Amino acid sequence: MLIFLVGFMGCGKSYVGRNLAPMLGFDYVDVDKFIEEKEGMSIKEIFELKGEDYFRKLEQQYLQDLDTDQNLVVSTGGGAPCFFDNMDVMNEKGLTIYLNRNKEKVIWRLLKGQHKRPLIAGLSEDELKVFYDERLESRKPFYEKAKLHVGDADVPEILDILKKNP
Ligand code: S3P
Repeated sequence: MLIFLVGFMGCGKSYVGRNLAPMLGFDYVDVDKFIEEKEGMSIKEIFELKGEDYFRKLEQQYLQDLDTDQNLVVSTGGGAPCFFDNMDVMNEKGLTIYLNRNKEKVIWRLLKGQHKRPLIAGLSEDELKVFYDERLESRKPFYEKAKLHVGDADVPEILDILKKNP
């Protein structure tokens, strides 16, 4: 079974995935990390040197190629569900979980990890909040296609939700 974690950048998809997978006895993959290793470059360098379109095609290819015959938790990049038919592909291949987290925590995380994320590099805190509001508004319809919406649930709570939704 495949479990996909989706949501805005900084919502903790990698943290949840890393911790949830061993509790389920599943393997874990972070799509951004997979792409970085495959390309031998950071996401920031891929955006700068090859462009966003190139990165989006790599995300799409990764999701399309995923073998459904494995137990795997997949953390996706914040934009992945919003390009091509990626959200439909994920819904067909497995269980999608939307981490619709509290805004303040997400902003705090983004301010800490801003340098790694090309789309928000160089924004002030106020600009970041505007970016968050606008981008979330346009991305929400995609994220909301996820089968489960877990709000601010922590990892053990997500595990309980999964047990109740077999
Ligand atoms: C992106 C989010 C990033 C990464 C890339 C683009 C986005 O992943 O895929 O910088 O478009 O929201 P995280 O959600 O892990 O930050």
